[in-house]
Amino acid sequence: MIFTEWKRVKAYGNRKLAASPASTGGLKVVEYELKTPSEFHLAGKRLLFFSDIHWGNSESKLASITEIAQKFNPEWIVFGGDLTNYACFFDKAFDALGNALSGITGSAKIAAPGNWDRRRKCWFPNSLWTAKFAEIGFHYLINESSFINGILFQGLDDPRNGHPAPSPNELSHDHLNCVISHNPATAADFAKTLERIFPNENERPRCLCLSGHTHGGQIRIPGFGALLTSTKYWKLFEYGRYLHKSTGLEMIVTSGVGTTRVPLRLFCEPEAVFVSFQ
Ligand SMILES: [Fe+2]
Repeated sequence: MIFTEWKRVKAYGNRKLAASPASTGGLKVVEYELKTPSEFHLAGKRLLFFSDIHWGNSESKLASITEIAQKFNPEWIVFGGDLTNYACFFDKAFDALGNALSGITGSAKIAAPGNWDRRRKCWFPNSLWTAKFAEIGFHYLINESSFINGILFQGLDDPRNGHPAPSPNELSHDHLNCVISHNPATAADFAKTLERIFPNENERPRCLCLSGHTHGGQIRIPGFGALLTSTKYWKLFEYGRYLHKSTGLEMIVTSGVGTTRVPLRLFCEPEAVFVSFQ
């Protein structure tokens, strides 16, 4: 029963803020601390995660990403998908993201696809996405793993318009595994895969999943939270930090940067996320 398998460790109401929108030019910065074994050599390092740009209505927020990256100097910058909704913005969105991060040369940049990036069969092919991301200095991982600056990243495809194909056998037991899964439902399914492939809990690799997609609901009702999340588990993974009790897999779900459908956020601010390794 999936509802009892997960515990929400941080919700929207008790998230920890590392910076206010006033100090970053528009985005809140939410910080999550992650304790890791000393042999991972991650203590003191930081990872910046942002998702759901939906370029076309959130241009100014990319300037905020630049400010945040300059201010916090992350070792890794991870983009969780949904670059733009429209083909006419494809090149402009890449230009905007590339320009925003062109001066951030000390950080490794990694991205995975969102549902809007994979929206139609006649949409741009994966090879073009990979090439465009490479042009702006990103490793684009779609059902692919890459060891980058001490973390094994695995980017999963989107379940609606693509085919997520996790590779548990590629996971590292000696390093942190960071699974980028735009839709948190895919991350939840990944936890089931971990359970199945590694029945012995002592042999399970340490995994952190980074997800977006829900926009935190985009419009939240005080006292209730998200009405719509666009995932098969509805409110279960609407926002925050989650722990899968049996595998120890952790998941962070961000409210993202931009908006879809309605250019409006209510009681649900746009944000970037910092993972501070301890
Ligand atoms: Fe989105």
